[in-house]
Amino acid sequence: MDMDRLALDFVRVTEQAALSTVELIGKGDKIAADQAAVNAMRKTFATINISGEVVIGEGAKDEAPMLYTGEKVGSGGSNKLDIAVDPIEGTSLVAGGLSNALAVVAAAREGNLLKAPDMYMKKIAVGPEAKGVIDLEATPTDNLKAIAKAKGVKVSRLTVAILDRERHRNLITEVRNVGARVKLINAVDVGGGIATALDDMTTDVLMGVGGAPEGVLTAAALKCLGGDMQAQLCPVNQAEVKEALQMGIDDIDQIFKLNDLVQGEDIIFSMTGITNGEILVGVQEGQTHSLVMNSQTDQAGAIRELRTNHNQASITAQLCG
Ligand code: FBP
Repeated sequence: MDMDRLALDFVRVTEQAALSTVELIGKGDKIAADQAAVNAMRKTFATINISGEVVIGEGAKDEAPMLYTGEKVGSGGSNKLDIAVDPIEGTSLVAGGLSNALAVVAAAREGNLLKAPDMYMKKIAVGPEAKGVIDLEATPTDNLKAIAKAKGVKVSRLTVAILDRERHRNLITEVRNVGARVKLINAVDVGGGIATALDDMTTDVLMGVGGAPEGVLTAAALKCLGGDMQAQLCPVNQAEVKEALQMGIDDIDQIFKLNDLVQGEDIIFSMTGITNGEILVGVQEGQTHSLVMNSQTDQAGAIRELRTNHNQASITAQLCG
């Protein structure tokens, strides 16, 4: 499998998803925006020589006109891949014309991405310096002390990204009580998780409960970047428990380590900015800004940053690390 080539194919998928939303940014219709991005992703996947299956994404076939779990993507061939998708990470942000929305995909060899329903997931994610010291079963306080020690800083210097949700009130209080900074994010915990592994970002840790697809996408990126993550599914009713069991999750309480979320070493991750954000510039005037990573051939932690001018069909790429 030529991972370099495939990674560039995958960046076209997120670029086209982002470009398709331009006319819908700030128009108040998140369904229309999502549909446009889904259509663009599906059409672009059809040009790539893979036999892919969406294993975690936006829901079951009958729930929405989405890239549904179980959908086959790609033009066929011997490269059998599991695909995780989020055509728009931050649909409400796009509808509201707000910052930080992204188009995101990840892929691994068949059977290597966690298959789970689109449900909630508790997460803790860190960059490479804190790899190996996180424990979802430990308290936030103990995790922050361990992360600070691993990074050689005081807890008070750590910044923890947490989705600004009522369910996180106690978590936010505990993090502040131990002396760390809380960075409240209104959506897009994929961005919060990936920021922990990027040098020029202020985030050290992502904590809290967000979407399971976003969890697997974050894990794919962190695996490429040498970071770490643990997660646990958070079903809100028995139907979700049943659905997870049907998808092959034997123990609903399992703590998934990074290598349970994303197995193997052949991982591709791509994301393109839709609206301006901390990590990526949003799509504008036919230009896109993307990060693409490939765990197999890129040196650990290397990222390809692509600014593509789709009007002139030219690509400039640079490596940052
Ligand atoms: P969408 O991709 O559906 O727009 O999700 C955005 C998001 O903020 C995710 O980043 C996050 O994991 C999840 O929603 C949190 O869900 P909720 O808004 O229900 O707390």
